[in-house]
Amino acid sequence: MEFGEVVRRRRMVRDYDPDRPVPDDVVERLLEHAIRAPSAGFSQGWGFLVLREPAARELFWQATTGGTTEPEGEDSWLRGMKHAPLIIVPHSNRDQYLDRYAEPDKGWTDRDESRWPVPFWHVDAGFATLLMLLTVVDEGLGACYFGIPPEFTEGFRAAFGVPEEFTPIGAVTVGYPVRDRKSPSLRRGRKAVDQVTHRGRWGASSDQVAGT
Ligand SMILES: Cc1cc2nc3c(=O)[nH]c(=O)nc-3n(C[C@H](O)[C@H](O)[C@H](O)COP(=O)(O)O)c2cc1C
Repeated sequence: MEFGEVVRRRRMVRDYDPDRPVPDDVVERLLEHAIRAPSAGFSQGWGFLVLREPAARELFWQATTGGTTEPEGEDSWLRGMKHAPLIIVPHSNRDQYLDRYAEPDKGWTDRDESRWPVPFWHVDAGFATLLMLLTVVDEGLGACYFGIPPEFTEGFRAAFGVPEEFTPIGAVTVGYPVRDRKSPSLRRGRKAVDQVTHRGRWGASSDQVAGT
């Protein structure tokens, strides 16, 4: 698929054909592309938990929703999401960045977190996740990235043996899309480029030299 089309076609898909597993080679391609993401200092402080077996996926939903008793009616978000034959949980690892930047070529030996303009460990795991989302589209599948509520993070780590230094930055369901309900958030409409772009100076809609 042409790259621009991949970008334009990407959307979050929240229901999947439960009987159509994601082929092995596609799973591997998602991961191969994820690790092509840029990372600060080439730290590569990420980790991906791949869940394909029904028991593992069920455990994921139990651990991250508190085994919710939410009625799984036609409208339920969970119902469609639980059909996904593949869940990938991308993690970030702050310690690997602090270690990397304490090396001689960077020299931040104090490991002071306030040196970081933003937490690059989360940024990089997000870049890797976006590469997976785009690869999913290129492969003719659908995916949805969503957050794991903070109150379930510890239980999730315990359920899957995730070391404490790894933080799940969310989770991605993947599968062959079936017709799903559009997110109500989309009613907001996509902002136009000019609404979010400041050219030359904040608030300017055409190029302007700073200070003039
Ligand atoms: C950081 C982040 C968190 C999100 N959390 C959720 C979520 O918890 N549940 C969900 O269904 N979608 C979630 N989404 C998907 C957004 O609702 C979706 O990207 C947005 O409405 C635009 O729709 P589109 O991605 O289909 O273009 C999240 C997206 C991002 C980037």
